[in-house]
Amino acid sequence: MNAPMSNLSDSTSRVHFHDLKPTPADMRAEVLSGLALPQKRLSPKFFYDAAGSRLFDAICELPEYYPTRTEIGILRRHGAEMAARLGRDALLIELGSGSSLKIRTLLTALRPAVYMPVDISGEHLLRSAQDLAAAFPGLIIHAVCADYSAAFVLPVEHHEHPRAAFFPGSSIGNFEPPAATRFLKRVGEVLGPGGRLLIGVDLVKDIRRLDAAYNDADGVTAAFNLNLLTRINRELGADFDCGAFRHDAFFDVGQSRIEMHLVSTRPQRVQVAGQAFDFAEGETIHTECSYKYRVDGFHALAAEAGFIAEQVWTDADALFSVHCLVWG
Ligand code: AVJ
Repeated sequence: MNAPMSNLSDSTSRVHFHDLKPTPADMRAEVLSGLALPQKRLSPKFFYDAAGSRLFDAICELPEYYPTRTEIGILRRHGAEMAARLGRDALLIELGSGSSLKIRTLLTALRPAVYMPVDISGEHLLRSAQDLAAAFPGLIIHAVCADYSAAFVLPVEHHEHPRAAFFPGSSIGNFEPPAATRFLKRVGEVLGPGGRLLIGVDLVKDIRRLDAAYNDADGVTAAFNLNLLTRINRELGADFDCGAFRHDAFFDVGQSRIEMHLVSTRPQRVQVAGQAFDFAEGETIHTECSYKYRVDGFHALAAEAGFIAEQVWTDADALFSVHCLVWG
């Protein structure tokens, strides 16, 4: 079941691909139950089909979207120190590896025994792993296509190596705080005692800056949000009229989170996998939460999960933070 689907190896690099992908039936059930809620809801993990992954990469290049370039700046500047914390020769697990770009800033210093990127978008994952293998000859890669937000088992255990995890990009912000605590606890259990987690966390800041990052002038974030409906149409045989929904994103100060919604611009009925869903004009589907933390608030959350905060690095403008946590 967990056997590698393909082994693309040559003398210098090895990529093993493990497909633990969620099934279309899982997606159908989750979409239908989310749309049946009084406040309709879709999980942001469904953004990342092939088109959505490309749109997300485009978001990361936007002038308004500060998190990616700020985090990469922090990784470049403090990478040696981070690598020293995590230690050499580890089984290095990256959760939600996407294009595996950020890990490149650490690999030379880190020298992991095995790099294990985990991502829900299979093709994108495999391509990125192959590119990485070409750039880092000799690096052993076990790419795992899985939903990291659900429990999953490592397809190869490698108990002979200490474990480290990398969870950049403030993807932790997608979880409601109690779910974030449960998730971190699961990561800690996979890491084991003394295992370290290097995690990127977006910080609370000026509201205009936050709003702009999720409402870019070119409409890339809007296209990313709306692509969810295109995907559901294609994969679940739905009939969303993408022209009858618009993107909305705002920072909720009280909850300390960006909320993204798709707003129905007219009353309409939509069929999804044989079920009908009615929308009033102005009714929304809540598609994403992106929580923003203060350093202290994040340390409290990590402690609640059972991690000890060892070190934190930020940029000069305190836009973003990268934390090293130890599983106690
Ligand atoms: C990948 C969850 C960190 O919340 O900033 C970017 C996703 N959504 N623009 C974020 C996202 C809209 C992103 N995370």
